[in-house]
Amino acid sequence: MLRTRTTGGDSGERARAAARAPLPPGRELGSSTGGGPLTREELLEREEHLANVSRLRLVLTLGATMWCLAGVLDIAVKRWVDPSVDLWWMWEMRYGFVAVFVGAILRLRRRPEPGPAQLAAISVITLVGAATFCAVLSLQYAGITSPYAHGVSCVAVGGGMARPAHWKHGVLHIGAIALSWPVFFLCAAPLSPYIAAQLGDPAALSVFAINTVLIMVTATLLIAGGHAHWQLRRQVYEARSIGRYRLKRRIARGGMGEVWRAYHPALRHDVAVKILRAAEAGSSAARRFEREVTATAELTHPNTVRVLDFGVTDDGLWFYAMELLEGETLARLVEREKGLPAARAVHIVRQAARAMAEAHGRGIVHRDLKPENLFVTSLGGEGDFVKVIDFGIAKGLTDVDAGLTGDGKVLGTPLYMAPEQGEGRAVDARSDVYALGAALYFALTGVPPFAATSSVAILTAHLHHALVPPSQRTDREIPEDVEQIVVRALAKLPADRFADAGELAEALGACSLAGVWQPPRVGTLTAHDDEGEEVDDVSNDRGTVEVEVETPAPTLRQRPPER
Ligand SMILES: Nc1ncnc2c1ncn2[C@@H]1O[C@H](COP(=O)(O)OP(=O)(O)O)[C@@H](O)[C@H]1O
Ligand SMILES: [Mg+2]
Repeated sequence: MLRTRTTGGDSGERARAAARAPLPPGRELGSSTGGGPLTREELLEREEHLANVSRLRLVLTLGATMWCLAGVLDIAVKRWVDPSVDLWWMWEMRYGFVAVFVGAILRLRRRPEPGPAQLAAISVITLVGAATFCAVLSLQYAGITSPYAHGVSCVAVGGGMARPAHWKHGVLHIGAIALSWPVFFLCAAPLSPYIAAQLGDPAALSVFAINTVLIMVTATLLIAGGHAHWQLRRQVYEARSIGRYRLKRRIARGGMGEVWRAYHPALRHDVAVKILRAAEAGSSAARRFEREVTATAELTHPNTVRVLDFGVTDDGLWFYAMELLEGETLARLVEREKGLPAARAVHIVRQAARAMAEAHGRGIVHRDLKPENLFVTSLGGEGDFVKVIDFGIAKGLTDVDAGLTGDGKVLGTPLYMAPEQGEGRAVDARSDVYALGAALYFALTGVPPFAATSSVAILTAHLHHALVPPSQRTDREIPEDVEQIVVRALAKLPADRFADAGELAEALGACSLAGVWQPPRVGTLTAHDDEGEEVDDVSNDRGTVEVEVETPAPTLRQRPPER
């Protein structure tokens, strides 16, 4: 495995530019709304938002100038078209509305810049307002047949320029501008006998219909164009690379960073890339990240995720690439199935125990084994193949630094955490055995062994509360010997548990359900993202459907990063 230093290129430059830009109140680079640091995607979204602000400012500045200059047209109307027009009334309306433009432009120039909701409000007030005022001015000049209908199309074009958006947003945004023309006159008819009379006149009504249709056609074209522009921007965004990997889609966002589906152009292969959050570089998290890679790369068991590459970009993003797993985590599987048949649960957790047996044999403790970190995928068309992932807080048995947090915080997930780990005492292979026991308990019953509303209460329960045997938490049958294995793995005292994952794997291999579960044959697979949404199907870039998870070329497995 190579630790590479790579150029962030355009992506790096833009991320740096976004990072230099002023942030909303209470937000700094390295702090998010939730108090955590900005993720790479948040940085990019912010960059996009800043571009929207400056585009709207430009559109409003140009629009306000033209709006003022169009006062000349009012003079032309008065002088050569219809002398009965009240020019002063028109100008009061026209130049009165300039105040709205000026207010909006001033707000857009002020720091901190408006947030997304405020930006949308400014855009609607100014642009829908301007379109409506085109109709208002028409009250003086030709009513529903007024050529000022073209003004509405101009405003719609401005709206399209200001914010290239997905068509759904476009329909709302541009649609509101376009509809303001017919809606205004339909609302004005009961109040204005002139408009009411025009709406009753077939000739005037035809001109009105033609104008309205043309405005709608303009709006439709703008929505379609805006969508194409938006899509292009997305593609440019998705074409961003990290190292030599082209990011395609975010799979998950976690505590320290993100996991992306990415494409390696030279290998013509999709991989998973885990990226450490930008603001974490240089912190203890970065050291943990490096340790995660080193630990995972050292392991060769087929039930451990395979690491392919490790690097740091020029803009300081730490990342590593690993084989892309299709399928879902044990957490999601159990949640969906509401607990698994005991034979299946044994089949799954036994594989994780085997993977961990190798780790324990090499002196590596995972410390965060939980259903979310056991990935159920398929291999060679056979389902229910487990990969242990996320050695994020793994440590060597001989390491002195217990947590690497530097602030005495306990690392791990309380629901599956061994009592000694929850207390911040020394952990060893038996702590992982406990976590595997807890994962098996969860797989069998659909609930974790101890649940409570706070982390402290959960840790206390692990320490002091008696375990409710899994057979009492489910209607499914659990053989006595399997139950005994779970109870022993979840013993409060490490000495009462299996000595390590190898022993646990052996016990599971010798139990009455060993080999009973027939893993399903898998034709197609679907991956799920953080929210359980389906992400890509497993079509590869050559348009064919993969029916098995390809194991990356063994030559990619290289030596651990140089420190
Ligand atoms: N190699 C992979 N292939 C596909 N999805 C993955 C891969 N590694 C992780 N994931 C997904 O990303 C999620 C978070 O990854 P993980 O390594 O556990 O990071 P975290 O430290 O944020 O928990 C996992 O629960 C899984 O859904
Ligand atoms: Mg995880």
